[in-house]
Amino acid sequence: MDFSKKRIIITGGAGYIGSHVCLALKETNADVLILDNLSTGFQSNVQYGKLHQLDLNDWGKTEKVIQAFQPHAIIHFAGSIVVPESVKDPLKYYQNNTANSLNLIQCCNNHNINHFLFSSTAAIYGIPHNGICNEDDLPAPINPYGQSKLMTEHMLNDASQAGKFSYVALRYFNVAGAHESKKLGQRMPEATHLIKIIAQVITKKRKALSIFGNDYPTDDGTCIRDYIHVCDLATAHVLALDYLFHKGKSRVFNCGYSHGYSVTEVVQAAKQIFGEFPVIESGRRAGDPPTLIANASRIQNELGWKPEFNDIHAIIKSAIEFELQL
Ligand code: UFG
Repeated sequence: MDFSKKRIIITGGAGYIGSHVCLALKETNADVLILDNLSTGFQSNVQYGKLHQLDLNDWGKTEKVIQAFQPHAIIHFAGSIVVPESVKDPLKYYQNNTANSLNLIQCCNNHNINHFLFSSTAAIYGIPHNGICNEDDLPAPINPYGQSKLMTEHMLNDASQAGKFSYVALRYFNVAGAHESKKLGQRMPEATHLIKIIAQVITKKRKALSIFGNDYPTDDGTCIRDYIHVCDLATAHVLALDYLFHKGKSRVFNCGYSHGYSVTEVVQAAKQIFGEFPVIESGRRAGDPPTLIANASRIQNELGWKPEFNDIHAIIKSAIEFELQL
């Protein structure tokens, strides 16, 4: 893929997923400008592209920087991502995820930026029938996080129909793992995600893993998720961008592996590799649906996406090896 003549703005490019996508874009020679306020991102995550430290809430400044760079596309990662926090502080999510996206879409309209790649989420599905999520299912989020992302998908859809603007929304399932160089991975010490917390317990940065709920309607009673390696997700972004540059029509794609693991199965897999660690059974966490599994056939058929790291043991191993050298 050659994007050497393309300028790309990446909001949130110093974060966990954004930094992996920037590194994947290095192979394409794209000219990358990262906008990140470093609230959850890290300067050391910037392995490719230039960083402009900026808060998207400062809209006047943001629009000026974007206008001066004249990007061919915007990839929009910046936002808040913690489901339980969104239940406690919903307006933070509508501000960071919905209102800031509206500003960016408006900016695309104002300055003829016609391609937009959006980080959406499996959380827009709510509690899907049978736990399997198809892109054409009617979205029904059960937490403000999912709602705030779905509202942006609606804005993108309406804006694309009203003008020459086209977008891809990638609906991420549970992203985990780290880059093989061990330079990039989930760095946030206060992260809430299952595999990150297991890595912290195994490396003795936390005392124990709490399993949130064992009375869900699943075989072992714990929630089931579709865990996708962050490097496979990065490849999906490069393919989606290429699709947009070749005038693909606006589209939504699930990003997962089409199969899931329960919390207990993830814990067992980690124990098989790294041995015993302390686990506590606790009550349900607010906003958690029982099962979320992607139907990922659309992205494979239409973008030719071929996952390389579809192996829960490899995902867990890479996350823990990254944690060990942090
Ligand atoms: N879990 C625990 N203990 C923990 C952390 C998590 O039991 O300490 C459980 C959760 O209750 C849930 C599962 O592990 O059942 C996965 O939880 P995560 O916090 O790792 O991830 P979520 O499924 O809540 O959310 C993630 C992303 C969202 C995305 C969603 C899609 O954060 O952005 O996956 O499936 F929408």
